[in-house]
Amino acid sequence: MRVLVTGHQGYLGTVMAPILRESGHEVFGLDSGYFAACILGAVPDDPPGVGDGRSLDLRDVTVDQLIGFDAVIHLAALSNDPLGALAPETTYEINHHASVRLARLAKEAGVARFLYASTCSVYGAAGEHLVSEDAPLRPLTPYAESKVRVEADVAAIADGGFAPVFLRNATAFGFSPRLRADIVLNDLVGRAVLTGEVRVLSDGTPWRPLVHARDIASAFATCLVAPVEVIYCRAYNVGTECNNLTVAEIAQAVVDVVPGSRLVITGERGADPRSYRVDFSRARAELGFNAEWSVQAGAAELYTEYNRNGLIADDFFNRFTRLAYLEGLREEGVVDDSMRRIAVHV
Ligand SMILES: NC(=O)c1ccc[n+]([C@@H]2O[C@H](COP(=O)([O-])OP(=O)(O)OC[C@H]3O[C@@H](n4cnc5c(N)ncnc54)[C@H](O)[C@@H]3O)[C@@H](O)[C@H]2O)c1
Repeated sequence: MRVLVTGHQGYLGTVMAPILRESGHEVFGLDSGYFAACILGAVPDDPPGVGDGRSLDLRDVTVDQLIGFDAVIHLAALSNDPLGALAPETTYEINHHASVRLARLAKEAGVARFLYASTCSVYGAAGEHLVSEDAPLRPLTPYAESKVRVEADVAAIADGGFAPVFLRNATAFGFSPRLRADIVLNDLVGRAVLTGEVRVLSDGTPWRPLVHARDIASAFATCLVAPVEVIYCRAYNVGTECNNLTVAEIAQAVVDVVPGSRLVITGERGADPRSYRVDFSRARAELGFNAEWSVQAGAAELYTEYNRNGLIADDFFNRFTRLAYLEGLREEGVVDDSMRRIAVHV
């Protein structure tokens, strides 16, 4: 298939593109390139970009640029809750409006499948019971709210020629050449390596479902080729019940793999009210999808890769932390307040 991946120069896109190519797909990308230079280790072999092949803002994509694709995998977004809180209008502009516009243009261009990167954050503070795709959506932030709106608005334009599917990913972990340090396991392993301490800024009880970046890529690869009548307008939680862990359990997995590190649970009232345990049985039953990576294996992988690639604190806390890095791009005048690029970043 000829596949367009938006956000191909992000954390997940950089892992996903080679996996799709290995599956035999012809892959192209679309990205504003905010984090193109945020690389740890070998420089990734990015797929060619649409347009002039350089950075392209999602808000500027045209129908002509979408003609000829069999599927669009839509990852591009301001990708977490703190970013969304920093600039809620821009989050809605990119994550909601530009995403729905992309879907409309894709439909107009004759793209048959639209695979959307949603999130388990749509369930909000769901508590102890397992939430399935039919659970009420209770988004707590502009980021999560924008995901809910895109699912609804894109489902509304589905028809016989345009099949959207919504992949509600658990929080990702694992090594990517375009690392993200601001997601829980990647963060805790990095702090353990750099400071010797695994510090949990809460009582450690909130539930977090986790999934490896490679497993997310494989879920998208599965949806690309699944029978259209199965995936049509369907939402799928992406992850595994084995990785529904409390923050304290995640931190313990880190202490277990980072020699000499020690666990500190501050017990303070956490800033993040999310807590949810997720049921992943629909993707198993309907797609035959199983997430393979455990949190323990992911922590060990991160420990190895951080050491192998000589991770340093300045990069970890600034280059690989989305909010800090984007704020830096704004201060340097590389992007304006609406996150549009206004200069070439070198
Ligand atoms: N990483 C996770 O834990 C996780 C979990 C659930 C869902 N998701 C979703 O998966 C997607 C990818 O996440 P990620 O972790 O790779 O995030 P990321 O921040 O690493 O990557 C997002 C990419 O989108 C690009 N982008 C942002 N705004 C753009 C714009 N206006 N025009 C063009 N490109 C733009 C960025 O340059 C970046 O390369 C996001 O939609 C995110 O919400 C991620």
